[in-house]
Amino acid sequence: MAREARAVRGAAQPGDWALVTGASGGIGAALAAEAARAGYGVILAARSRDRLDTLGAKLTRAYNVPVVSLTTDLSAPGAAETLWQEASAGRRIAVLVNNAGLGHFGRFDDPEGWEREEDTLHVNLMALTVLAKFAAVTMAAAGSGRILNVASTAAFAPGPGFAVYSASKAYVLSLSEAMAEELSGKGVQVTALCPGATATGFFAADGAEGATWLSKAGMADPDRVAAAGWRALTSGRRICVPGWQNKALALVVRLVPRRVVVFVADQLLRRRG
Ligand SMILES: NC(=O)c1ccc[n+]([C@@H]2O[C@H](COP(=O)([O-])OP(=O)(O)OC[C@H]3O[C@@H](n4cnc5c(N)ncnc54)[C@H](OP(=O)(O)O)[C@@H]3O)[C@@H](O)[C@H]2O)c1
Repeated sequence: MAREARAVRGAAQPGDWALVTGASGGIGAALAAEAARAGYGVILAARSRDRLDTLGAKLTRAYNVPVVSLTTDLSAPGAAETLWQEASAGRRIAVLVNNAGLGHFGRFDDPEGWEREEDTLHVNLMALTVLAKFAAVTMAAAGSGRILNVASTAAFAPGPGFAVYSASKAYVLSLSEAMAEELSGKGVQVTALCPGATATGFFAADGAEGATWLSKAGMADPDRVAAAGWRALTSGRRICVPGWQNKALALVVRLVPRRVVVFVADQLLRRRG
């Protein structure tokens, strides 16, 4: 199995670990599987202990790599720093997958959504940035490493009805591109993965199943999204937009006047009925 793993793109050196946040399901679990398949020891982080342990057992069985589960609520102050300290104690983290994320679907002037929007800011921005900073400092000093930040196609345009989430992902994309440029001479690869709608627990968790566009858009398979993200990370690409429809969307929003883009996004993101 180990020999097989080395033939995989981005294969690990002995003793290399990958830290994957939001690994308890969806795209994060699939990215953790990519890392395990490439021979990395995997540190799985999220709030749901049972789901992490189940995935960990599966990965160890399938790929014969060590797996550690760390339970963390990344919306809590100081949680990201604690996670990094625990994850890196006695381990060389060669890959950071900053995947944990959430959003709130609702109008900005609805006070009901604020608590979840606050969590969105803590997890999508603060925790991601803290982990990226620890990783960048450590990896730059070592002269090698890879960081995959999970953004979204929502990063490409403002999202009325999904305003805080879209703005948070624009931040992730911007941060990732700047990091990639700064760290390019230091052996550290930074990639932003920008999936479109993907069939995970994300929309159920965010109460967004009723959005008009969701009824029309085909949902991508999280395994395929993760495979595209891993390929991009290990082949040195800075931005990965899986799927031709999403690539087309990314291009169109650059060509159409911003106000038109925001108007159309508002129509698409409104709830049905
Ligand atoms: N699905 C899509 O259509 C889509 C599209 C573009 C981008 N994305 C991005 O892809 C990433 C993964 O999302 P997904 O689609 O796989 O959704 P998901 O199935 O809901 O997974 C989200 C992951 O984040 C973790 N998480 C959420 N809040 C957390 C917290 N406070 N502390 C620690 N972990 C937390 C969840 O674990 P626990 O609940 O166990 O903590 C879970 O593992 C997110 O960054 C999302 O924004 C998703």
